[in-house]
Amino acid sequence: YGTIGIIGAMQEEIELLLAQLDDKQTDCHAGITYHQGLFKGKKVVLTRSGVGKVNAAVCTQLLIDRYSADAVIFTGVAGAVDPQLNIGDIVISTSSVQHDVDVTALGFPRGTIPYQEVSEYPSDARLISLAEEAGRKVYPGRCLTGKVLSGDQFIADRSVVKRLFDELGGACTEMEGASVAQVCYMNDIPHVIIRSMSDKADGSAHVNFAEFTIEAANRSFAIVEEMIKVI
Ligand code: ADE
Repeated sequence: YGTIGIIGAMQEEIELLLAQLDDKQTDCHAGITYHQGLFKGKKVVLTRSGVGKVNAAVCTQLLIDRYSADAVIFTGVAGAVDPQLNIGDIVISTSSVQHDVDVTALGFPRGTIPYQEVSEYPSDARLISLAEEAGRKVYPGRCLTGKVLSGDQFIADRSVVKRLFDELGGACTEMEGASVAQVCYMNDIPHVIIRSMSDKADGSAHVNFAEFTIEAANRSFAIVEEMIKVI
């Protein structure tokens, strides 16, 4: 890849990488800050998108248009949906879906955007296998490859989690991944989403999120760091 785009939604999710970025050059578009530099000798653009699907979509399109990113990695935290996941565990996206898209009244399945070729956005096979390899090295036995569900909602309800798992087959839920994936899909740019679980999206989610976000964000970064070494 010529330039690798790396996105986190919150400061905690980009902090460690930002501190290790060499030859840093920083500028701002649409209120979003982009840091160009070298990480492990590789050309990267690191950015904090802000929270939610619109922020993440705008951030990704600018990353592609203005910074010529030809691969995109999202790094951050999520709420666990698959019951086999524990706090700290990693999800590597095989695909992603916007779980809050609901045109079921017109007969479209939940999560499906009408008149679009795909109902979910597949992640890139090479980036997935690089992430899996990194996972085996850094957190053996604690990485799951699966579907990431995104929506403009912080989920903190066990019954919603059950529905997201049963109806959409999600591994985890967050607020940006599938919109990054949609923009990458529209531009034919490979992507993968790496998420470490900060909570279980249940009644304790707000407490767990506050306690574990930094640790989980750093675990996600550890996967990205290992990927960049060999990319
Ligand atoms: N990010 C981390 N935990 C989350 C949750 N429970 N819902 C949505 N986004 C999250």
